Amino acid sequence: MADFDRVHLTGLKLNNFRNYANLKIESDRRHLVFAGENGSGKTNILEAVSYLSPGRGLRRASYEEISRNDGNGTWSVFAELNGSNGPVSIGTGIQETAFGPDRQRKVRINGAQSKTSDALLEHAKIVWLTPAMDGLFTGPGSDRRKFLDRLVLAIDPAHGRRVADFEKSMRARNRLLGEEMPDPAWLDAVEIQMSENGVAITLARLELLDLMTGVIVRSSDPDSPFPDAVLSLEGSLEVLAPDMAATDLEEEYGSRLKRSRRADAAARRTLEGPHRSDLLVVHRPKSMPAKLCSTGEQKALLLGIVLAHARLAADLSGQAPILLLDEVAAHLDPIRRAALFDRIEALNCQAWMTGTDRQFFDDLGDRANYWRVADGMANME
Ligand SMILES: Nc1ncnc2c1ncn2[C@@H]1O[C@H](COP(=O)(O)OP(=O)(O)OP(=O)(O)O)[C@@H](O)[C@H]1O
Ligand SMILES: [Mg+2]
Repeated sequence: MADFDRVHLTGLKLNNFRNYANLKIESDRRHLVFAGENGSGKTNILEAVSYLSPGRGLRRASYEEISRNDGNGTWSVFAELNGSNGPVSIGTGIQETAFGPDRQRKVRINGAQSKTSDALLEHAKIVWLTPAMDGLFTGPGSDRRKFLDRLVLAIDPAHGRRVADFEKSMRARNRLLGEEMPDPAWLDAVEIQMSENGVAITLARLELLDLMTGVIVRSSDPDSPFPDAVLSLEGSLEVLAPDMAATDLEEEYGSRLKRSRRADAAARRTLEGPHRSDLLVVHRPKSMPAKLCSTGEQKALLLGIVLAHARLAADLSGQAPILLLDEVAAHLDPIRRAALFDRIEALNCQAWMTGTDRQFFDDLGDRANYWRVADGMANME
């Protein structure tokens, strides 16, 4: 890893993004800290950076919500990135068309439009932790699946397409099952697609958990303020996966789908598949399921998982992801805070962090650039 410079943003420009008419941030390879009052626009800056990766950003917002209130529905994020393959300029956002604001966000890399936003992953991986994720272990399984799938995506760029394709075929199957006389050949075809993508999703998730477990076990430190997590995936395909070849598992899932057509039609949804799996997390030192841990313990566990994932990404590709840590420092006691700063520095990643008070970041010293956020502007201190 020492041979590479860290992947880092050197510039960020926003237009009509949330509360920013125009915003310009410049940086060197160090971390960035944004301090400012509630509502000043700190999370919005991290959200803008999250659009430099595929998907719907760290708030999963609609593009309309992002566009500045008194704007025309368009918005843009431009970035100068020192990426995995060297410096690149990235632009993304919603453009004006003859029919009003475009419905899809466009991605340009060095001026050339990319067919899909997956191309962004060739240049940087971006992982985030926000206060909205505090309920991850107690909330709905769908949030844990999305969290897991983002972690897989950062290691395996084809994963996003797999998940999107699976969901598309599942919707098609559910629609067909709602018809009075669905075409059996069509159902067969849709179920084959579902079983191929469904098994690929399951195997990719299991592979990631295996790799993460390896990192966690190897770097285990009883004195660490971030407890080790035991990670597993619960689901009917996951039970079969260890003892079956992928093609046999596809066949098995396909025939289960076929057998459950009547039940699924009655339920108006597909009852079995990777869309029902759940990520189970256990606090290893306490042997306690994460959902029964205290708020602070859950936060430390989640942070430990994100750091282990960043370590894994760095081990696999030589380069760590850019980390977006929204209001993370404020909720840690001083010892954990200092440990967090040391960890991210050791990972050789660039972290973008926010907090209401600049003093939370004192221990970072000259490892970061400091910005004060107020009145729709950010100024370097
Ligand atoms: N589309 C939009 N147009 C204009 N302003 C918006 C838009 N969307 C959100 N805002 C405003 O942006 C402001 C800043 O939001 P942001 O979440 O970034 O604040 P913050 O600094 O992270 O605050 P906190 O410390 O409370 O988390 C809020 O006042 C919000 O109402
Ligand atoms: Mg915020």
